[in-house]
Amino acid sequence: MCGIVGYIGKKEAFPILIKGLKWLEYRGYDSAGVALLNGSLEVYKKKGKVIEMEQFALSKNHSGTIGIGHTRWATHGEPSDENAHPQNSMNNVFTVVHNGIIENYAKLKTDLVKHSYTFKSDTDTEVLANLIDFFYHQDEGINSEMAVQLALSKVVGAYGIAVLCKNEKNKIVVARKGSPLVVGLGDGEYFIASDAAPIAEYTGQVVYLNDEDIAILQRDGFTLKNVSNNPVSLKISSIDLEIGELDKGDFDYFMMKEIYEQPKTIEETFRGRLRADHSEIVLGGLLNVFPKIEEARRIIIIGCGTSWHAALIGEYMLEEYAQVPVEVEYASEFRYRKPVINSKDVVILISQSGETADTLAALHLAKAKGATVIGICNVVGSTLARETDAGVYTHAGVEIGVASTKAFTAQVTVLTMIALKLANTKGTIDIKEYQTLVKELSEIPEKGRIILQSNDKIKAIAEKYHKAINALYLGRGYLFPVALEGALKLKEISYIHAEGYAAGEMKHGPIALVDDNLPVVVVAPQDDYYEKIVSNIQEIKARKGNVIAIVTEGDTGLKELANDVIEIPKSHPALAVLLSVIPLQLLAYHIALFKGCNVDQPRNLAKSVTVE
Ligand code: M6R
Repeated sequence: MCGIVGYIGKKEAFPILIKGLKWLEYRGYDSAGVALLNGSLEVYKKKGKVIEMEQFALSKNHSGTIGIGHTRWATHGEPSDENAHPQNSMNNVFTVVHNGIIENYAKLKTDLVKHSYTFKSDTDTEVLANLIDFFYHQDEGINSEMAVQLALSKVVGAYGIAVLCKNEKNKIVVARKGSPLVVGLGDGEYFIASDAAPIAEYTGQVVYLNDEDIAILQRDGFTLKNVSNNPVSLKISSIDLEIGELDKGDFDYFMMKEIYEQPKTIEETFRGRLRADHSEIVLGGLLNVFPKIEEARRIIIIGCGTSWHAALIGEYMLEEYAQVPVEVEYASEFRYRKPVINSKDVVILISQSGETADTLAALHLAKAKGATVIGICNVVGSTLARETDAGVYTHAGVEIGVASTKAFTAQVTVLTMIALKLANTKGTIDIKEYQTLVKELSEIPEKGRIILQSNDKIKAIAEKYHKAINALYLGRGYLFPVALEGALKLKEISYIHAEGYAAGEMKHGPIALVDDNLPVVVVAPQDDYYEKIVSNIQEIKARKGNVIAIVTEGDTGLKELANDVIEIPKSHPALAVLLSVIPLQLLAYHIALFKGCNVDQPRNLAKSVTVE
């Protein structure tokens, strides 16, 4: 939530900040702003997208070789010009951009009011700006980084901040706790961003700040310490992002581009990990912890949103094939519900971004209780990737669309490989079935390409149903989580109320919703549950519901019964997940477009939920 950028060097800062903010808009997009230090401190901010702020600033003095910028997802205070960042201190000496939540801001504000500070916004960030200012003016010997350290020592909550001080024209102070920040190292210049993508164009050398790190960036040097003023050793990482990845290419939206990338990203995810003769699965990142996984008393898989849906699929696979007890938890529940965990447990945390606040809190809890913690993560160098004992990257490439698509199929691919490898090592799977599954997994990309050819047909179905108020998604077995995921896609980008249900649960309540206005999407490929799901479809049809069925190619029976069918190639039931979700992503996408929604930046959402 919220994107931060910064630049200090010899170039003009404004274009670098604007370009960076446009990349980070997926993190929040209700208002944006920049601050530039030239002769004076200039701050330009506006409600709305980055482009609106850019237009506004272009008519003003936007020169300067040092600056910070922000794109916001509102926490404290509605989206408005006043609440946009940067937030200045009362006397305009400091300006601050902030990602996170200062939980004790109300108490700090009351204290500052007693010292005659006044406030223009509803934000917790303005409180921080004034708190820094307060400490700065306590003693002449206090410089900006000391003031930031003193202020942060009083703060409870999460922050990634960048601070400019009008009196120190060769310095940006940045600090992090809970909210990611990356510093890019150039030649006499430094770049700051909430993730590495906006920096990749300028340098391949970055430093990921750790919690409580504070970095002081000056044109001629970079100092890293912690909030308590102790030195911190500098770990420089290399990034290797293809800038082409950050482009929509021929597509209108990133979401569509990312849906279409799936055959390739699934392939990237298993590349080098599936042996050509299907005999072995190699997961180098898990090598050291694999004995722990084999001996695990149980496995707990944790995530949020789409990552939680992938976790459910992991549960089904691990239990079926590796015969290990698995529990799946929402990170937001797990972190607070005092779970019983010990060193015999293996906890797998799934996160596309690797920065989701609840998932990181769950990681810290599981680690503190002695469990082996494993990450499945897409963003290289993210906090999750750095803080887990071991992990597997999903290699889906940068995902910009707020609605997760290719990250989901990559997560399921990784979980499939873990489950099959574990099952094979433990001898809990028949070798023939193991080899069939590995072979079929390697064939999924080709089958995915075939499904994408149905895009026009799916668009026509979307046109028929885009005026619906509600929608129901049903599936059984492995396809129940797919129904949940399909419903989530629809609701988050089209704002149609959609519920995913296990089809067997339909008679226990949701069937009351069925009438001739309700589209019911049924994921019904030919698997062990086929007969049962056909009965469910009969029940919906008997009540005049409109059935859109995802079926195995050549299924003539359901073609007769359902109002609309979308065919997917035949596959092993456990792998049908990876295929059947693609039409659901396309359906949600087209419905949202028919409704005139911005599919890449749906209202009220942000890509990385870095606050709880
Ligand atoms: O980055 P993460 O995988 O941890 O994010 C988890 C959820 O916030 C995310 O999947 C969210 O539900 C997406 N908007 C779903 O499309």
